[in-house]
Amino acid sequence: MTPAKMIPEKIISAKMTSTKIKGLILSGGSGTRLRPLTYSSAKQLVPVANTPVLFYGIKAMAAAGITDLGIIISPQTGDEIRQAVGGGSSFGASVTWIVQDEPAGLAHCVQIAQDFLDADPFVMYLGDNILEQPLAGFVQSFADSLSVSTTPAARILLAKVPDPSMFGVAELDTTGSVVSLVEKPTNPASDLALVGVYMFTDAIHAAIAQITPSPRGELEITDAISTLITSGKPVDSEILDGWWIDTGKKDSLLEANRLVLDHLISDPNSDMSDIRPEISPKIGNATDVEITASTIQTPSVIGDNVLIANSHIGPYTAIGPNCQIINSTISNSVILEGAQLTDVNGLTDSLIGRHSTIKGSPATTAAHLTLGDHCELELT
Ligand code: DAU
Repeated sequence: MTPAKMIPEKIISAKMTSTKIKGLILSGGSGTRLRPLTYSSAKQLVPVANTPVLFYGIKAMAAAGITDLGIIISPQTGDEIRQAVGGGSSFGASVTWIVQDEPAGLAHCVQIAQDFLDADPFVMYLGDNILEQPLAGFVQSFADSLSVSTTPAARILLAKVPDPSMFGVAELDTTGSVVSLVEKPTNPASDLALVGVYMFTDAIHAAIAQITPSPRGELEITDAISTLITSGKPVDSEILDGWWIDTGKKDSLLEANRLVLDHLISDPNSDMSDIRPEISPKIGNATDVEITASTIQTPSVIGDNVLIANSHIGPYTAIGPNCQIINSTISNSVILEGAQLTDVNGLTDSLIGRHSTIKGSPATTAAHLTLGDHCELELT
C-alpha cells in the first residue's frame, strides 16, 4: 500500500485553547472478527470507500487540531500500518509509534503510552471506528472544560444503539454525568453505547494503576473509568448526533461503506476523505481507469488502474485499485486491491480480499462471499 496522499483541509488548531491535547489511536489488537481478511493484514487497513478505516480516525483527529498522535500497533501488523501512514505529515500530523506486545486491553494501551502522553490531556480514538460528526466540537468543549474548577476527569461519547450488549454501556443521571459503565453487559442498563472516542485528563493513569484484568484477560478502559467514578472524580458524556460505526465485522464494514458513500454524495466538501464517489460516467479522482460496455451505479467508488468490461457495478460498491471486473454484476460490496472477477453474476453483500480471483459461470446468479487475500474461487 502506498503512503497516504490526504491533506486535511480544516485544521483548526489555531482556534484551540492553549492547552495541548494529544491523540492516542489504537491500531493493535487481533482482528479475529474480520477473518479471513485479517489473517494477512491489519483490520484497521481494510478499506471503506477505498480509504483504510484507520485514516478516517487520523484525519478526524487532525481536523480537530490534534496533530501530536501516538498510534498503538501490534508486532504482527505494525510494519504494514507504519508503511501505510508514513510519518503522518500527509495528514498534517506527527506520529509516535507505540508497539503493544499483546492485545492486553484498551487501558493497557494507555498504560504503555504513558511516556508519550506525559501529564497532558488526550483524546483516545479506537482505530476501527468511523464517526460522521467531526470531533472538533467535542474537543473544543473538552479543552474549554479544562480551565474551569469543575473539570471532568474524563468525557465519553455515547450513541443510542439497538443492540447495546455488544458494546460498553453507560448509565447516566439526569445531568448527563456517568453513574455506571459496564463492558458488553448481558442485561444493559440503557441503550447508550460507548463510542470509540474518549477524552481524558491525566487522572486516568492513576485509575488504570488500580485495575486488574477482566475475566477475558484485558485491562478494560471501562473499569478504569468506573474507578474514576467510584473515587469521586467527575466523568461526563456527550451524545452523538450523526452515525457511528465500529467496523470490526463484515456487516458493519459494508454498512460503513454505504454510510460513507452516502455522506460523500450529500456533502461533497466533507473532510472525511479525499475520495469522491463515482458519479457515472465520471471517475472521481481515479486515473488509468478503463470502462467498456458497463454501467456504474452511484454511489460507488473506483480505484486507480481498474479495468471494467461488460459489467454492472453498484450501488454501494468500492472497487479497489488494480482490479479487473469482466462480465460481472456487483452491488453492496467491497472489493480489495488487485482482485479479478470474471463471469460473476449477482455478487452482493460481499467482501473480497486482495489479489483474489473469482471465476463464475452463467449458471451462477447470486453470491454472498467473504474471501481473504490471494484466494482462488471457481463458481460452477
Ligand atoms: O467500538 C466501540 C467499542 O469498542 C466500545 O463500545 C467498547 O466499550 C470498547 O471496549 C471497544 O470494544 P471492541 O470489542 O469493539 O474493541 P476491540 O477489541 O475491537 O478494540 C478496539 C480497537 O482497539 C481496535 O482498533 C483494536 C485496538 N486494540 C484493542 C485491544 C483489545 C488495541 O490496539 N489493543 C488492544 O489490546
